Amino acid sequence: MSESSDKQTRVLVVHGPNLNLLGDRENSLYGDASLAEIDDALAGLAAELGVGLESFQSNSEGEIVSAIQDARSSYAGLLINPAAYTHTSVAIRDAVIAVKVPVVEVHLSNIHRREEFRHTSLLADVVTGQVLGFGASSYLLGLRALVDLLGDN
Ligand code: DQA
Repeated sequence: MSESSDKQTRVLVVHGPNLNLLGDRENSLYGDASLAEIDDALAGLAAELGVGLESFQSNSEGEIVSAIQDARSSYAGLLINPAAYTHTSVAIRDAVIAVKVPVVEVHLSNIHRREEFRHTSLLADVVTGQVLGFGASSYLLGLRALVDLLGDN
């Protein structure tokens, strides 16, 4: 993982529950890439774009809230796939509001083409933007958008 000590150029990627099983979980929906492969691709793109990047995955809502809180002092932006917590977590929504840095929400699948309960994202109106439906490319597109935004600030 590429790292930078300069807060202005560091981005945190947060992966929510069950994403540790990518590549071995509902591949027709989420693709064949493992989480490690997605993180490697993100690290490569981050290096190309000249930013530092760290990735974090947790199956626990509280750990995700704490990681987002930590981003306040250590990162310039956040890329997050909250996975199932997208649809349920007021705590993650509140942490995103509190973090005060640009946040891009990403999803591998197009949640609006799936079951009704996935159509609602509790983050949708508090993030800077969303990228969804492009498989692993959603993360890469989201990182590009976030870094463009940071460059503008
Ligand atoms: C997901 C969509 C969520 O509804 C689901 O619970 C996931 C993955 C996605 O990336 O498409 O775990 O966030």
